[in-house]
Amino acid sequence: MGEATDRRPLRRHGAMKVVALVAALVLVGLTYSAVVPNGAAGADGPQSQQIEEGRRLFAVGCASCHGLHAEGGTNGDGRQAGPSLIGVGAAAVDFQVSTGRMPAAQPGAQIPQKPPVYTEEEIAALAAYVASLAPGPAIPPAESYDVSKATQSDIVRGGELFRTNCTACHNFAGRGGALPNGRYAPSLMHTSPRNMYQAMLTGPQQMPVFSDAVLLPEDKRAIIAYVTQLQQQDNPGGFPLGRVGPVSEGLWGWLVGIGLLVVVAVWIGAKVPRIPRKG
Ligand code: HEC
Ligand code: HEC
Repeated sequence: MGEATDRRPLRRHGAMKVVALVAALVLVGLTYSAVVPNGAAGADGPQSQQIEEGRRLFAVGCASCHGLHAEGGTNGDGRQAGPSLIGVGAAAVDFQVSTGRMPAAQPGAQIPQKPPVYTEEEIAALAAYVASLAPGPAIPPAESYDVSKATQSDIVRGGELFRTNCTACHNFAGRGGALPNGRYAPSLMHTSPRNMYQAMLTGPQQMPVFSDAVLLPEDKRAIIAYVTQLQQQDNPGGFPLGRVGPVSEGLWGWLVGIGLLVVVAVWIGAKVPRIPRKG
């Protein structure tokens, strides 16, 4: 407290409101946990609490298409609304929900990415719930897609593997490409290393599953190192310049470059002694 609050009564008023709100929320939380018996469905640890939370989120946000127990669901007309998620594993849930593909908004040839709807904890809970139904690919540990120590030879090997396994759909530069029936393989320029790993592990839509038997974990990491390098090349130049687009970034390069050339030319002109002209 002090001068700042004295000078700004309005601000303090706002802060009091926030404090009151937080207090109210804490009270509601405490009351809830007192009323609802701990471990409603035989839950007995943080793990099963997370699964319970996931089950609850799933019932609200996913069950309308995927069925109340993730067994798959149909629309009124009997057509599939969402596939069964039994056995798809935590990695598929993490990939689909963190890229915003799920929850799907409307049906279409392909469900697009969008900003994620759920927080990281909620995604982890949803993933834990689906993983609890049947075994499936787990979320890969962070070190399996950490490419900060990748060597040049890893990147070269990753490039070879990428050209053999991925370019047919994603284009040699990872920029993506069209597929039959209005579908497409997306550009890989904005994908996180974790989701690269998870896409290979779970094979969303038309993409084949690259199990660890097909592409060893170190092969996957090499591919991720290569694509990460492509991503960095995609945004060259030290200064992002607010990412205003290639044209004006190019223009800046051009202006600065020309400016430097002029300076150098003037400097050379000043240095070089004039050769007296003959005749
Ligand atoms: C409006 C309907 C709808 C809703 C709501 C929805 N989904 Fe889906 N989901 C689909 C459809 C349709 C597919 C198949 C998509 C495809 O093949 O591209 C799918 C696919 C998936 C897959 C991929 C399965 C696989 O085989 O790899 C996962 C995982 C998934 N959904 C999880 C969720 C979760 C978790 C939620 C809730 C947060 C959710 N979905 C909400 C319709 C829905
Ligand atoms: C047969 C075509 C095909 C091949 C081969 C293929 N993919 Fe894909 N890939 C797709 C499609 C289609 C999607 C989009 C799926 C969706 O939207 O549900 C996709 C999605 C992805 C994504 C998610 C991108 C995002 O923005 O969320 C990544 C990452 C990815 N692929 C990486 C790879 C890598 C790495 C390889 C090679 C090991 C590969 N793919 C091979 C078709 C393919």
